[in-house]
Amino acid sequence: MISNVSHTARELIERLRQSTTGIDVEYRLANGNVSRRIYLDSTASTLQLGVVREVMDKYLPYYANTHTTVHFNAQLSTRELEWARRMCLDFVNADPGEYGCFFVGSGTTGGINRIARTMCRKRPDRDVVITSIMEHHSNDLPHRKHFSKVVHIPVMATEKGMGSVDMQAMESVLAQYGERVNYVSVTGVSNVTGIVNPIYEIAELAHRHGALVLVDAAQMAAHVPLQMSGHENPARNLDMVAMSGHKIYTPASPGVVITRRELFSDVEPDEVGGGMVDDVYTEHYLSTENFPDREEAGTPNIAGAIALATVLYTLKKIGMEEISKEESDVVAYAVNRLRAIEDVVVYGHSDPGTCMRTGAVSINVRDMHHSLTAAILNDYFNIAVRNACFCAHPYVREMISDDLGEQMDGLSNEELEALADLHRGMVRASFGIYNTRQDVDQLAHAMSEIAGNKEFYRSRYRRDDCDNYFHSDFSFDSTRVFSVQNEVDRWLSG
Ligand SMILES: Cc1ncc(COP(=O)(O)O)c(C=O)c1O
Repeated sequence: MISNVSHTARELIERLRQSTTGIDVEYRLANGNVSRRIYLDSTASTLQLGVVREVMDKYLPYYANTHTTVHFNAQLSTRELEWARRMCLDFVNADPGEYGCFFVGSGTTGGINRIARTMCRKRPDRDVVITSIMEHHSNDLPHRKHFSKVVHIPVMATEKGMGSVDMQAMESVLAQYGERVNYVSVTGVSNVTGIVNPIYEIAELAHRHGALVLVDAAQMAAHVPLQMSGHENPARNLDMVAMSGHKIYTPASPGVVITRRELFSDVEPDEVGGGMVDDVYTEHYLSTENFPDREEAGTPNIAGAIALATVLYTLKKIGMEEISKEESDVVAYAVNRLRAIEDVVVYGHSDPGTCMRTGAVSINVRDMHHSLTAAILNDYFNIAVRNACFCAHPYVREMISDDLGEQMDGLSNEELEALADLHRGMVRASFGIYNTRQDVDQLAHAMSEIAGNKEFYRSRYRRDDCDNYFHSDFSFDSTRVFSVQNEVDRWLSG
């Protein structure tokens, strides 16, 4: 299947790929070869797009703090920061009359914590949050900390594997808790399987029951178009979205919350300090009514926000629909190629016709520890992946037991323990705009080599108490490749 992407979009995507910072990094491997590193860890953090580098080099001479317009740099930076906010709204199709956005320090996690803290004070009678079993801990623990009850909706179990959030279960939990539900918070895209959730149907359902909807867009924003408002049926509009700049090709950029403004008015701002007050007396202070100023105590990450908006504008100009088609084609190709390899397990619903996936694919080689597979992919094939449970422990555990199923019947405790030891995690290959089918081919080649030569690879590694695998006669000294301190010393010595 070759995706139906316009010629111009494909050319621009190729330009982005070629100018990605670090796309050509090379490393020497355990077999002595030197090759180009294939980056398949974008779900954790994406690489930086070249356009950010170029634009930020040009902007930084004019950088200044924004809370004044008295000097030229401050005027320019204030205008660009305002532009950055508009780009965030524009990127997720949020009506600027109704929605606003603010930047937060630590990615989506910072945003969701802020939302949880604020919503429990804004709607104190509603003490229940509904989320799902497939969530990242960042879209689970903040709700647990601030609400009396969090209900985890299961995912659909189908013949083709576990799919997206179970809407019937969602409906019955909404009916059960009724007016106690403050909001429903689901991920747009799973960080484990890349499965896309039906967020607009979820919004419709939640709104019918008087609940708000928060979408964790950490894995969705860079990969699938988002439409917060303007749906023909307004019940499908989203109330709040949180996302991370470092997962949208902009390292060192902030998290973003995009929300209906009214939700953050008439409630004391969660963080206080400079920039969010109209006046301060020794006895009391007056928080500003201005949104987003009231939500941004202190100086926001101005340069990071502008860098992020540079990317959002670029992606939007190319067309998120086009980008999404191109990427889901690569992921569908990966699922199909990996599923065809003997002894390789691909987790989650794997029929692209009935369950859309984007961004990530999690796998294992049967009878091989996930840490060992990930180490071999790195050391012998120069493929950077991540392994373990990806901060989504309940979901990963559920999928692994679903896969093992009957294999566990009749095993002794010792055998079960050995099986559990091997299967306490997965290997995740995740994709960005710069990945191609050729990268998938290399991954598939590596996985079949590993699956076909388990004993050879096992004999090359030793395991420590923390389940890390180390090659017996190869190691990587990262300081020989790069060290900030060495670079500074070089600079200091002229
Ligand atoms: C689905 C999902 N939600 C939330 C987060 C947390 O994002 P951050 O670390 O940027 O706060 C992640 C990170 O991987 C994620 O994948």
